[in-house]
Amino acid sequence: MKPGIETCLTPELLHQFDLEGKVVVIIDVLRATTCMLAAFMKEVDHLVALADLEECREMKKCGYLIAGERNGEKIEGFDLGNSPLEYMEYDLKDKKIAITTTNGTQAINSSSMSEERIIASFLNKWAIGNYCISKGKSVVLICSGWKGRINLEDSLLAGALSEIMSSDFNFEDDTTRFVHSYYQKNRFNFLEEMNNASHTKRLSRLNQGGDLEFCVSEDLTEIVPFLEGNRIRV
Ligand code: MLT
Repeated sequence: MKPGIETCLTPELLHQFDLEGKVVVIIDVLRATTCMLAAFMKEVDHLVALADLEECREMKKCGYLIAGERNGEKIEGFDLGNSPLEYMEYDLKDKKIAITTTNGTQAINSSSMSEERIIASFLNKWAIGNYCISKGKSVVLICSGWKGRINLEDSLLAGALSEIMSSDFNFEDDTTRFVHSYYQKNRFNFLEEMNNASHTKRLSRLNQGGDLEFCVSEDLTEIVPFLEGNRIRV
């Protein structure tokens, strides 16, 4: 029998899922998981994902660059915000980053009971799909959403991943069928569709709309970051 794919559209629904023995894929297209991939493309040593802002600030004392946002805005005193373009311009080689974000690092922390979690973005979607196929275990796609609400961008990537895995996996729930159809409808007009997203509008209001195009760039890397506790490595 084929393994299954389930999709959780917001971490608030996670209590409905059994993660045991499954590969958990964390998604936050705008912009946390895209930043994490950008960091590894810039050869960062590792990241630590923290839910708590003050805990993240404290990591500066341990030699970490501190990064993140609240409500999309860079945190005062932090080295980096949550813009992947900013990451791409920063010298990150062999550095360590502690990161806290409004939703993405919360999704990571709320799935910490899972044995195997990996980080997905459009930048590494093929690599993530192929990794899951090679593992042959059931998969749960966790979308970070926005403060408990679903969002278009994470749903699109969940749909794209289910498309890559569709021949080797069964779709176990209607949510996966829904995100898959949504992706199929929009696969050739991501940018146009994402212009409708609430978070795109929010980022534009914050003058950070320039990140959008990078966040929907497909398959720039084969890196598959994974979690060890709250530490993200490759
Ligand atoms: C988040 O984790 O909520 C996001 O990555 C927000 C953002 O775009 O900065």
